[in-house]
Amino acid sequence: MPDPKISIRDLYIRYSDGRVVLDGLDFDILRNQITVAFGPAGGGKSSLVRVLNRLIDLADVAEMRGQVLMDGRDLLAPDVNVIELRRKMGVVFSRPIPLPLTVYGNLSFGLEVAGMRDKKVMDERVEKALRQAVLWDEVKDRLNDPAASLSGGQQQRLCIARVLVLEPEVILLDEPTSALDPVTTAKIEEFLDKAKEEYTIFLVPHNQQQASRMADFAGFFLQGKLVEYGTGAQIFLNPKDPQTLDYVMGRFG
Ligand SMILES: Nc1ncnc2c1ncn2[C@@H]1O[C@H](COP(=O)(O)OP(=O)(O)O)[C@@H](O)[C@H]1O
Ligand SMILES: [Mg+2]
Repeated sequence: MPDPKISIRDLYIRYSDGRVVLDGLDFDILRNQITVAFGPAGGGKSSLVRVLNRLIDLADVAEMRGQVLMDGRDLLAPDVNVIELRRKMGVVFSRPIPLPLTVYGNLSFGLEVAGMRDKKVMDERVEKALRQAVLWDEVKDRLNDPAASLSGGQQQRLCIARVLVLEPEVILLDEPTSALDPVTTAKIEEFLDKAKEEYTIFLVPHNQQQASRMADFAGFFLQGKLVEYGTGAQIFLNPKDPQTLDYVMGRFG
């Protein structure tokens, strides 16, 4: 059994409008595995992504309790360096939002902010990230073109590369392929399959087929609760909870 990278302990969050969005969440995100959070809209999956990299700090939260431990340290502690945390745990959203820079500039920007000055090292890091994101072959002759000139699918992979270039430990992806064509979706899934050798991955899939294709481990989220958690094979082929079974069988959703 792989060891936990992130341990979520009794996490409870209530927004200021009174809505309890996560209620007693308790599970581990295992190192070098793909953990999938799936379930109907409104279950709290995106809120959990926002907790993990502390984007939740920007939301109107009335009450938050519990712990999120990464390598044993509580990410919710007030003295956590949030900038450093977000470098270690990059996030990819469903709509790509490249910076208004060139293809190269979208990747070099974060490295420059981090203090990198060596152009040769930077070129190497940019190429490596673009290769990992299965984009290099399509953009190697277009590095100085505006990122906005890329297709939507290419922009999404650019956003993935922008996370990778910072050499994160964890990658969060919230429905990263929901706006994409099947060819790009396949490329991103190919990337995820390889990437878990190097990173810990937490994925909110855009449908259940993707969930069952990608999940080493999976959690079924319903109205703020984790109904069931297990290996991908167990959850999708042999769910124990009747609500998971109904959802996996397509009886609601
Ligand atoms: N900032 C917020 N303030 C109040 N309610 C919110 C906020 N963000 C999300 N919600 C509500 O919390 C519930 C869970 O949302 P979300 O985390 O986006 O779930 P999911 O990603 O599973 O669809 C939804 O009912 C949503 O309307
Ligand atoms: Mg969501």
